[in-house]
Amino acid sequence: MYTRSIVLLGGGGHCKSVLDTVIRGNLYDKIYITDPHIPAGTVILDRATVVGNDETLLSLIEKGIRNAFITVGVIEPSPIRYDLYTYAAELGFHFPDLIDPGAIVSSSVILGENTVKEKKGEGIFVGKAAVINADAVIGKCSIINTASVIEHECVIGAFTHISVGVILCGQVAVGCNTFIGAGSTVRQGIKIGRNVLIGANSLVLRDVKDGEKVVGVVK
Ligand SMILES: CC(C)(COP(=O)(O)OP(=O)(O)OC[C@H]1O[C@@H](n2cnc3c(N)ncnc32)[C@H](O)[C@@H]1OP(=O)(O)O)[C@@H](O)C(=O)NCCC(=O)NCCS
Repeated sequence: MYTRSIVLLGGGGHCKSVLDTVIRGNLYDKIYITDPHIPAGTVILDRATVVGNDETLLSLIEKGIRNAFITVGVIEPSPIRYDLYTYAAELGFHFPDLIDPGAIVSSSVILGENTVKEKKGEGIFVGKAAVINADAVIGKCSIINTASVIEHECVIGAFTHISVGVILCGQVAVGCNTFIGAGSTVRQGIKIGRNVLIGANSLVLRDVKDGEKVVGVVK
């Protein structure tokens, strides 16, 4: 059994970001990728090999590999990350949190249902130069992408993607399976629902309801 092994589900662009964090942090020795659209044997970033598709996961479990991570990226509300997570969790995989060494995460932050110190893992990704400040709560399997800022006491729902360069001011709440586009800023105390899409570079000054799609200055 490889104790320092992990399988990444999805071999596209977001996978490269996550893989780079795994490499920079020297987090795992053996790194496998499954992706139905990339030929088996393809090597990504000179470090991780595509070994098959979703059906290959069962044989990886049988080989003793227990860690998995969802590396399919989404740029809109989508069930795909939830579906893959559920499938792999039912097979018995555990989902660590992967936090880039260049991210800053307050020790008071709750990741999933655990404190940072417990390090149990809920499949959360925190990218390079991201900052998560005091008493924020981050939902499982969410993406806190490169250089985003999650200010104090924000609450982020599960399977939500806070994309690159987003700024959430203090006490913002974001629902599950929501996507906040690159460079957007959300005013303090705003509540954003679930399955919301906020376009790139938006400025959100009012609450946003479940399922809404908004762009630009939202007031
Ligand atoms: C909002 C978004 C999803 C819309 O995509 P779409 O449905 O394909 O829409 P279109 O590109 O056809 O644009 C429709 C209209 O909205 C405008 N628009 C699109 N995105 C906008 C944005 N972010 N802000 C302001 N206006 C925007 C377009 O100019 C266009 O206007 P028009 O009808 O007057 O010509 C997309 O533009 C976007 O912002 N995606 C987020 C990208 C991102 O953050 N990626 C980060 C990955 S980590």
